Amino acid sequence: MSDKPVVVYGASGYTGRLVCEYLREYGVPFVAAGRNEDRLNESMSSHVAGIETADYEVTVVDHDVEALTELFKGAKVVLNTVGPFSKWGPPVVEAALAAGVHYTDTTGEQDWLITCDEKWGEAFADKGLLLSPGIAQMYTTGEIAAQVALEKPGLDTLDIAVFWGGSPTIASTQTILVNAATSTAHYLEQNQLVAFDAAAGLVPLVVPGQHELALSLPWGGTSHPIWFRRDPRVANVKAQGGVFNTALMHGVPQIVAAALEATKDMSEEDRDAALTATAAQVMNQMPPRENPRVNKSLDSVHASGPLGRAHCVIHGNSNYKQTGLLQAYAAYSLLQAPPKRVGFASGCQAFGHRELLGVLRTFGLVSEPVLTVQD
Ligand SMILES: NC(=O)c1ccc[n+]([C@@H]2O[C@H](COP(=O)([O-])OP(=O)(O)OC[C@H]3O[C@@H](n4cnc5c(N)ncnc54)[C@H](OP(=O)(O)O)[C@@H]3O)[C@@H](O)[C@H]2O)c1
Repeated sequence: MSDKPVVVYGASGYTGRLVCEYLREYGVPFVAAGRNEDRLNESMSSHVAGIETADYEVTVVDHDVEALTELFKGAKVVLNTVGPFSKWGPPVVEAALAAGVHYTDTTGEQDWLITCDEKWGEAFADKGLLLSPGIAQMYTTGEIAAQVALEKPGLDTLDIAVFWGGSPTIASTQTILVNAATSTAHYLEQNQLVAFDAAAGLVPLVVPGQHELALSLPWGGTSHPIWFRRDPRVANVKAQGGVFNTALMHGVPQIVAAALEATKDMSEEDRDAALTATAAQVMNQMPPRENPRVNKSLDSVHASGPLGRAHCVIHGNSNYKQTGLLQAYAAYSLLQAPPKRVGFASGCQAFGHRELLGVLRTFGLVSEPVLTVQD
């Protein structure tokens, strides 16, 4: 049972550490929870700036509903960073529901959002709790850009590009590969989810701020079609994205195709293990702390309607820091006021896009949105 109001599950990871760093900056007491005591202690003492003035404790917990429920009881919010979430998320959500705490995570997996919405959304709403998977740079920053563009009434179609620069973490690499290889990416067309053509391959995109075309993939479909599918203003959402590194983008479809071919006759368990091993060949160490001159984000949203258009671009830096900050702010906010929406909700739906933009701006992680409106 926790005597701190916030539990960070997966605190030893790259993102979990940053969540702890920003919780400390907001003055929020927390439990740094995970599966390995040495890694948790080492992560806190050596990788969380200012930890000596944080109010926290380290707790080891088994990854099952019973143990997690026991840990979450007494807390108000759980911030989960143990991904891939389609694989590891269900017991954490079940435990949050059983313990009566708000749940957020850092997913960018479209299939996990659909599962959360359809399987647990109503139960969380009935208890007055927030279920907000995906409070993270991908794709909350893009959602803020979309919401800013939608401040102009009469727009019903979102065409979204999301790009980032820098190294993915171990779990991010696993998540990208497992998600690309095992789930169907969707976009929203006239309020219906439609599967992307898996054979379409790389699509060149014109992105703001550079002359070179950027190569994009559906990137699992992203969170946007799911967040907007019950927004009465919006009928169509298509998102594409990837990394700025063109050579790496050329490699991604090949890595995924090779992994799919190699695992096609395997059991689910063996396939998971093989995909995890392939991901480890791509990335098997903690990336360095982010550098704003290297780690960049770009979210560009063209919103259109029959008689109008708006284009919103948000340039940012330090994508994992953006995620850590958004998570910490979500907890800080939930400790003081109910969310704007209970049950399944995005970051913007729960906390407001202007508020989240202000948070990212205050900490120097995104530029002022560049908004062009055609009346
Ligand atoms: N959407 C976004 O913008 C965004 C941003 C950041 C992160 N993410 C996602 O968040 C997730 C975490 O990323 P990360 O950067 O923190 O990765 P990471 O550095 O590899 O950390 C993964 C964390 O999960 C824990 N973990 C892994 N398997 C576990 C298991 N079976 N049981 C319990 N704990 C387990 C690890 O514990 P140990 O230390 O004991 O191994 C570690 O604490 C990934 O899915 C990533 O894609 C998304």
